[in-house]
Amino acid sequence: MSENKPSASLSAVNLDTIETHEYDVVVVGAGGAGLRAAIAASEGTARVAVISKSLLGKAHTVMAEGGVAASLGNVDSDDSWDTHFYDTMKSGHFINQYRTAEIFAKEVPDRVLELETWGAVFDRTPAGKIMQRPFGAHSFRRLAHIGDRTGKELIRTLQYKVIHQNVDIFQEVTTTRLLTDEAGRIAGLFGYYREDGHFVVFRAKAIVLATGGFGKAYKVTSNSWESTGDGAALAFRIGAELMDIEMVQFHPTGMVWPPGVRGLLVTEGVRGEGGLLYNSKHERFMLRYDPVQQELSSRDVVARSIFKENQAERGTPHGGAWLDISHLPANVVKAKLPGMYEQFLSLADVDITREAFEVAPTTHYVMGGIRVDPETEATNVPGLYAAGEVACGLHGANRLGGNSLGDILVFGRRAGMAALAYAQSVDYPTLIPAQIEEEVRRVLAPFSRPDGERPYHMMSELQEIMTTYAGIVRSGESLAAGLEHLELLRLRAERMAVHGSRAYNPGWHTVFDVESLILLGEAVIRGALARKESRGAQWRTDYPEELPEMGKVNFVQTWADGHVVVREEPVEPMPEHLAKLFESDQAPGVVRQAARKANQGGGS
Ligand code: FUM
Repeated sequence: MSENKPSASLSAVNLDTIETHEYDVVVVGAGGAGLRAAIAASEGTARVAVISKSLLGKAHTVMAEGGVAASLGNVDSDDSWDTHFYDTMKSGHFINQYRTAEIFAKEVPDRVLELETWGAVFDRTPAGKIMQRPFGAHSFRRLAHIGDRTGKELIRTLQYKVIHQNVDIFQEVTTTRLLTDEAGRIAGLFGYYREDGHFVVFRAKAIVLATGGFGKAYKVTSNSWESTGDGAALAFRIGAELMDIEMVQFHPTGMVWPPGVRGLLVTEGVRGEGGLLYNSKHERFMLRYDPVQQELSSRDVVARSIFKENQAERGTPHGGAWLDISHLPANVVKAKLPGMYEQFLSLADVDITREAFEVAPTTHYVMGGIRVDPETEATNVPGLYAAGEVACGLHGANRLGGNSLGDILVFGRRAGMAALAYAQSVDYPTLIPAQIEEEVRRVLAPFSRPDGERPYHMMSELQEIMTTYAGIVRSGESLAAGLEHLELLRLRAERMAVHGSRAYNPGWHTVFDVESLILLGEAVIRGALARKESRGAQWRTDYPEELPEMGKVNFVQTWADGHVVVREEPVEPMPEHLAKLFESDQAPGVVRQAARKANQGGGS
């Protein structure tokens, strides 16, 4: 059954007519992690659905342009899983979950090769193997890529695979609440079709959240409208834990000019292919900040360096740095970075084969997220799983470029498999009608407040607060002020109002985005206040040093009686055989390479 004519009036909604579906596994999110999870969950005969508030494949996955990191060793044969593990833990400043990083580094090569068998067309070495390029803070050339549109090709491949599986796809459906049964286990979800606003309930044994991050909490971001933290907020509200949510990644290079494209990603592939960064005095400032890795330092370091150059008044006219790749032959730039060439030519009227271009940090990714089990991606809510950017564990305090695409492949698959196994072990849960009734009332409430706050105004005020008080640079003072502003905004947001009907109503959609972002904004600020140090992406001017004792804790957050509660938990220690890898200052593969060269008489 379905509502005949979706009405904005509560009295006109008959709960018995709400469209209802039943699935063993429902995946929320149709980016890389969601599609990979759905493929895994649908290997047997289970009924599987993917729900997306956007369109199939229209996801932040496409913004991982430069490649997927995997120690295939096609270009540098000394690369290995242990070196990838070492680089990932080191760049994460050791608050990553070691087991997550270990599984990841071991499994990602197989996931990339599997993609190839599903039709992904990677760039090739002269010998016909998958081509790999250097990226920031990776010890070897490790990024398997397709020009500068790797994420797009990955999505295309997964999309093609998923439509040939037994998976039903529901597009443009917003999920507003996860439903639980009497025992607190997942029972399904409530949502509405964005097109005409009619409600829908999915009864499900297991749900995989793959909804990505929340870059839209900030004014300047590489993320598009979908990244509003829906999954993390939905899970948090029903008792899932968040971890290290203060760790927000600012990618060093977003477009700066013209204003309409500010924040749009400029792939790290530009630096990977040899692009150099200059300040307004034409100094290669990265030589000062990281003389060893230089432009290919980790993202936290490069982003902060650009910020510091601007603080010292050595920035570019629009507050960034110059990135220059014009020393390479034009045909090489066009072949390796075709997207960047087109992007700058068409949007900024700049030919990157001839001149330098302006770049500045842009909010790109959230390392923190829903706390999950490293093996299964299970949350602490029975039947609820999370994979990809919405989950936490792999990246610690700073994510290596190219690790996000591997993350979604490895853990999307694991989440799908675990959700399927769980679904096969339980009966269909019983929905609680009162939860649905309460949710109908809640989502319709903005229509009954004619004089309330405008959701769009709330959204831009929220972005202003997060950018000003909890951005790339923070202090106890700025964070406390941010929290105060956010609390006032939250109270005002309780009175958000929308006009018109439930059909094609973007103001109504924005209400739910704002609610999620305010909740997660508070979690970011509370986490950042609790972490009294600088580490990776968290840069606090009042605690400028990385403190050894803080490297032993994760900050876990729960939602209790309408409040965000933060607690410290010890970082799971590495077993001895893995801890040993860090006895040297150099990654294991680099040590082996030096030994091999020495044995061959080639020195190091
Ligand atoms: O710069 C990039 O191409 C982004 C890659 C990533 O975020 O992994």
